[in-house]
Amino acid sequence: MPPVPEPPPPLLRLDDPVLDLPTALDRLDEEHFQRGLVPVELEKGVPAWLMISLPVLHRVLKDEHYFARDPRAWRDLWNGTIPDTSPLQALYPPRRNALSVDGGEHQRLRTALTGALQEVSLALLPARIREIADVVIDGFCTRGRADVVSEYASVLPLLVLCRLFGMDQPAGLRVGMAMQRLWDGEADAGHAHHQLQDLLLEHAAYRRAHPGRDITSGMVARGLDDEEIRDQLALIMAAAHDPIAHALANTLADLLQTSRMHMVGSTWLISETLNHGVWRHPPLETLVGRFPTADGLEVGGYRLARGDCLVMGFGAAQRHQLRTAPPEPSNRAYPVFGMGPHGCPQLGRDIALAIAQTGVERLQQRLPDLRLSETDTPRRASTVIAGRRALPVTFTPARPITPAAPHQEEKWNPTRPAPASVSNSRTPPPTRSVFARLARWLRSS
Ligand code: HEM
Repeated sequence: MPPVPEPPPPLLRLDDPVLDLPTALDRLDEEHFQRGLVPVELEKGVPAWLMISLPVLHRVLKDEHYFARDPRAWRDLWNGTIPDTSPLQALYPPRRNALSVDGGEHQRLRTALTGALQEVSLALLPARIREIADVVIDGFCTRGRADVVSEYASVLPLLVLCRLFGMDQPAGLRVGMAMQRLWDGEADAGHAHHQLQDLLLEHAAYRRAHPGRDITSGMVARGLDDEEIRDQLALIMAAAHDPIAHALANTLADLLQTSRMHMVGSTWLISETLNHGVWRHPPLETLVGRFPTADGLEVGGYRLARGDCLVMGFGAAQRHQLRTAPPEPSNRAYPVFGMGPHGCPQLGRDIALAIAQTGVERLQQRLPDLRLSETDTPRRASTVIAGRRALPVTFTPARPITPAAPHQEEKWNPTRPAPASVSNSRTPPPTRSVFARLARWLRSS
């Protein structure tokens, strides 16, 4: 391989708090899209390459031999370039889940995990989602107003996933409460992280002793030990929760902004709105990464060095595709689910789209005159996700339909401790009381 030349200067710094990344990328010259790769910085002094075209994403993500997924291959994570205090260190520690390893170990974990996902009955899934959606909606339906992002979209996916893991409601809510403390970044976030790990481990042991038809029991049956199961469950929660929450909230916002919410009775309309939204505003704008395993590999006319970091620029690539060769209306081959050996399993995609779609449908059925309380619902200035910080709505107050519904409002804790650790989630946290309120309701019912 020829020697690696000095990398070009970065075009963008992805942690710039005032950067509107989607707009900045969409304005790049066509020449950059033809190359498909742009030099960027993740934070000051941390170089990376952003992949912004489908051909480059396909080439890199499908080549596991020359482009590792395992962050241990990321040179700057280990050579002192990224300081221990950087959030990047907190986000990419070595992990033993399918997404963080390559080769034979990846094959083994992915086979068990995708096999276990088959335990989910897609036919029964909408009914289960509706059931959980009803409990969550009952938490705010009497009030006549709510923030859809923090009170619904960021609660529903987590509770549905816990149910698919085979947890009962109290266990799901305990996981929710631990996640909430992590999201809040409160002083005990470290403790909440350990607690979450313990809850998942206990659940794996419980399902080993009491198998059922669920994802956890599916992994037990496919030979994973309890710690491996804990790590794969944690991966699913981390990989799935945020993007589903934003796909749901984005779809709802699109429908409300175009005043088509009343037409949601049409399943076709909602699935097409979801489809359009996932293409136009993919719930992941970027994602780290891939790491060349050899010096001098050529991508987009640049020569890469071993251990460089390549970031998936799903948002830029999808929007460029829409501008240049728009997909057919019902095309669901969204690049944002990844591709190649680490691509999101088909059942993961199906589950995600079912939660987003059924979540919107159920909310409209329960609160048919839902409307935005603010005309402008700005998107978050984030380089990682494409979502909203809040989506305040109003509606005619409705009766709860689950017994002893948890509709009493709780006061916020005024003495909130300072953040202690970095949270992995980019979804705005559920309002403080949501999981606790649901848990109390279950105890009292
Ligand atoms: C809108 C929702 C979702 C989006 C946008 C999404 C996106 C992705 C992407 C981009 C990857 C590949 C990352 C890479 O190549 O580095 C991935 C992997 C993965 N996803 Fe999803 N995902 C979603 C929902 C889900 C759900 C619901 C599940 C499971 C129930 C799931 C399970 C997984 C797993 C296990 C992997 C790792 C696969 C491997 O490394 O072999 N995802 N997802």
